[in-house]
Amino acid sequence: MPETTGDWAPADFERHGRELLATIRQHFEGVRDVPVARPYDAAELMGRLHTALPEMGEEFPRILTDTWEKVVPDLVHWNHPAFHGYFSTCASFPGMLAETMTAALNVNSMLWKTSPSASALEQVVLRWLAELAGYPGESDGLLVGGASLATLYALGAARDAALDYDVREEGMSGPHAKVARLYTSDQAHSSVEKAAITLGIGLRNVVKIPSDDQYRMRLDLLEQAIAHDVASGFVPVAVVATVGTTSVAAADSLEPISAICRRFGVWLHVDAAYGGLYAFASRMDGAVEDVSVGDSLVVNPQKALFVPLDSTALYCRRRGALANTYRLVPEYLTSVHTGGTFDFMDLSPQLGRGFRALKLWWVLRSFGREGLRSRLDHAIELADRLRELAAGHPDWQSPAPSRYPLVCLRYAPGDRAGADAEVLDGLNARIVKELNDSGEAYVSHSVIRDGYVIRVSLANIHTTREDIERLWAALNRAAKSSR
Ligand SMILES: Cc1ncc(COP(=O)(O)O)c(C=O)c1O
Repeated sequence: MPETTGDWAPADFERHGRELLATIRQHFEGVRDVPVARPYDAAELMGRLHTALPEMGEEFPRILTDTWEKVVPDLVHWNHPAFHGYFSTCASFPGMLAETMTAALNVNSMLWKTSPSASALEQVVLRWLAELAGYPGESDGLLVGGASLATLYALGAARDAALDYDVREEGMSGPHAKVARLYTSDQAHSSVEKAAITLGIGLRNVVKIPSDDQYRMRLDLLEQAIAHDVASGFVPVAVVATVGTTSVAAADSLEPISAICRRFGVWLHVDAAYGGLYAFASRMDGAVEDVSVGDSLVVNPQKALFVPLDSTALYCRRRGALANTYRLVPEYLTSVHTGGTFDFMDLSPQLGRGFRALKLWWVLRSFGREGLRSRLDHAIELADRLRELAAGHPDWQSPAPSRYPLVCLRYAPGDRAGADAEVLDGLNARIVKELNDSGEAYVSHSVIRDGYVIRVSLANIHTTREDIERLWAALNRAAKSSR
């Protein structure tokens, strides 16, 4: 019977830890036999897991067995080499171990003094990431819980910088209130609209600039929209440009967008959550947009650099702007700063913050710049191989080609040449379902100008060329049985 006070003995922790590590090892050694996902019945699943809260503590082996038997089978295995949905996120082994260490130390880096080396290490990894993405290292920066939050925080600072009254004091509805506007392309991630909702800017004040035939924000229309709004008395707060759009991994042209922003004195926020960290991959041939022109930038190591969720970096080269918006220090959080220290709680609304820097430090050190580069190159090669396979097959198209390891596929068999777009959309949607239900691979979708497309994102550290051949065979099987 477990004790009713105190924690496990450290020796028990080690014993259970070994059991857990052995199970994880087995999982990864046989991962290709694990279905990536399986169809589920929500009621059955809830029924299976809905047990009463135990009165007395249970033995760990039982909890671990239940986890593998009752929980794991109905997870979608995001960390599987055949997972290609959304933007796949991948946790490498050093990242997994770092999460354990982080939990063991359980430090809070809200103030510099509450965890000095966690704060120092956060600055170190932020500098390293800035170097990889090509953003000025002397910017303000912090690790946050996802790109959506990073964009929200950046746009909060942009809003306060743009409005000529004290928004912190008066809010968005005081006597000096003005209509604030955001500009982004029709391809931007929904996090921009969510930020507008949260910041009191309002969805109707998000101006969606149409994109061109390569899914890039139209510069002429952006310029016209801002000029029109200025003339109408609106306050342009920020342009949000994207490097690596969600549907097709397109990239807005940052340099001319930044010139427009400079002309109108508007903040440029660069959402490079997906694309920004591919900047140093050799196979991108330097073709990644120069993110350093952004007043603020978000990049997501969780999407590209094999760091477990969540791992997002927000940068702001307008030093002090984040603190102008978010710094608020009650007596119980005061601290004295010496030697260039500061408190991370000043840069966002979040107070308590975990030690996110450690997993970045471990992963970046374990693989090094060269190791990361070759892994990103490998992912791009896999995507090129998939595009090559599609190009060599008369029934498949790969519309909106990208340099990033995201492949859009559309099945359009010759005998359906006359079929209308809706019929093909339905066929492609059935392929996604069929493939995902098979457990052989997992993909997601989007709807672009060519219609419904199957999105295949390649970012798992374990995915091999053989996996791509298997994926191609599985896609074709799913296509055949969906006809
Ligand atoms: C371009 C882009 N920006 C932002 C996000 C939001 O990222 P997060 O899930 O970290 O909030 C995504 C998510 O895929 C994205 O594709």
